Amino acid sequence: MTAPQTLLVTGGAGFIGANFVRYLLDAAPSVRIVNLDALTYAGNLANLAGCLDDPRHVFVRGNITNSELVGYLLQTFEVDGIINFAAESHVDRSILGPVTFVETNVKGTLTLLTAAREARVRRFLQISTDEVYGSLGPTGSFREDSPIRPNSPYSASKAAADHLVRAFVHTHGMDALITRSSNNYGPWQFPEKMIPLMIHNARCDRPLPLYGDGRNVRDWIHVLDHCRAVWQVYRKGRSGEVYNVGAGNERTNLEVVRTILRRLGKPESLIQFVADRPGHDRRYAIDATKLRSELGWRPRVDFESGIAQTVAWYLDHPDWLDKIVSGEYRKYYRTLYEGR
Ligand code: NAD
Ligand code: DAU
Repeated sequence: MTAPQTLLVTGGAGFIGANFVRYLLDAAPSVRIVNLDALTYAGNLANLAGCLDDPRHVFVRGNITNSELVGYLLQTFEVDGIINFAAESHVDRSILGPVTFVETNVKGTLTLLTAAREARVRRFLQISTDEVYGSLGPTGSFREDSPIRPNSPYSASKAAADHLVRAFVHTHGMDALITRSSNNYGPWQFPEKMIPLMIHNARCDRPLPLYGDGRNVRDWIHVLDHCRAVWQVYRKGRSGEVYNVGAGNERTNLEVVRTILRRLGKPESLIQFVADRPGHDRRYAIDATKLRSELGWRPRVDFESGIAQTVAWYLDHPDWLDKIVSGEYRKYYRTLYEGR
C-alpha cells in the first residue's frame, strides 16, 4: 500500500489545474490535495464541481505571491510536494498588460520555491510551456535541450520561472523538475483560448477571428493526456530534469477551425481573418521522446475524437460558457484589437 501524501496544487481552479485535481482524486486514492488558487478572471469554482465536498480536497482562495500564506499551508497540512499550475496564461493578455505576468509567474514561482525549501518539501514540479523555446520554421521540433528563446511577455515570464527552478536545484540541491507541454484542449478551458472561443462563437453564429493568415501551427494535446504526463513526471521523473509533453498533433489554426465548424455543422463563411497577434509565434512542435522512452508515457486521446468530445462538452455546458462571457470578458474583448 502507498503511504498517504499531501500535495499543494496551485492554480487548481483553472483549466489544466481543475482537470488535474479531478484526475488525481480519481487516480491516486492515497493523495490529499490542498488547492491554492487566487480565483482570478480565469479561476472558476464551477470547474471543480463535484470535487469541493471531497474530504481529500481542500480548496484555499489565496495568492501564490503571499509567502506567509504559502508557508502556513505547507506547515499546517504537512505538504510533501508542490505542483505549480498557477499562472497568468494568456499570450494576448500579456501583450496588453505584462505586469501581472511577472508578478504571478516569476515572483509567485520564487515565493513557492523559497517556501518549499524552508519547509523541506520533498519535491517541486513546475508546469511550464513549449512557448519558452520560441518559434520554429517549417521543420524540426523542440527538444529539452533546445535554446530558450521566449517571444511574448507571457513566455518570457514562464522562462524566467524555469530558470529559477533550475537555479534552486543547482544552488540549493532542491528536488525540483519541469514539464513543458504543448497546447492543451478539453473541458473547462476559458473561452479566450482559441478552441473554446471558436466553439462559442460558432454556436452563436458569430465570426471566428483567425489571426493573420491562419497558417500558424500549434501542436495539440488533450488535457487529460497532459494530466497523466504530469503525474508520471511527478512520481518518476529525475530531479533537475525537463520533460517535454506533446502528442504529435500539429495543425494549422485554419485546419482546427474548419474541424470545429464541421463538427457543429456551421459554414466556413463564419471565418474572419483579423489583424495578427504582435510577435505571433509561427509554429510549435514538441519532441516528447524523453517522456516516452524514460517514463513510458503515451498519449491516449487521438485529436479527431478529442475534438469531437470537446465540442460536445461545450455544447452540453452552455450555462458554464454563458456565465463567463459577460462582464470582464466583454471588457477584455473591447481592448483586444486596439493598437493592432
Ligand atoms: P488558466 O489561466 O486556465 O488557469 C490559471 C489558474 O491560476 C487560474 O485558476 C487562476 O485563478 C490561478 N492563478 C492565477 N494567478 C494566481 C496567483 N497569483 N495565485 C494563485 N492562483 C493564481 O491556465 P491553464 O491553461 O490551466 O494553465 C495552467 C498552467 O499550465 C500554466 O502554468 C500555464 O503556463 C501552463 N501551460 C498551459 C498550456 C495550455 O495550453 N493552456 C500549455 C502548456 C502549459
Ligand atoms: O503552447 C502552449 C501554450 O498554449 C500555453 O503555454 C499557453 O498558456 C496557452 O494559452 C497556449 O498559447 P497559444 O497562444 O498558442 O494559445 P491560444 O489559444 O491563445 O492561440 C492558439 C493559436 O490560435 C495561436 O496561433 C493564436 C491563434 N488565435 C488565437 C485566438 C485566441 C487566433 O487565430 N484567433 C484567436 O481568437
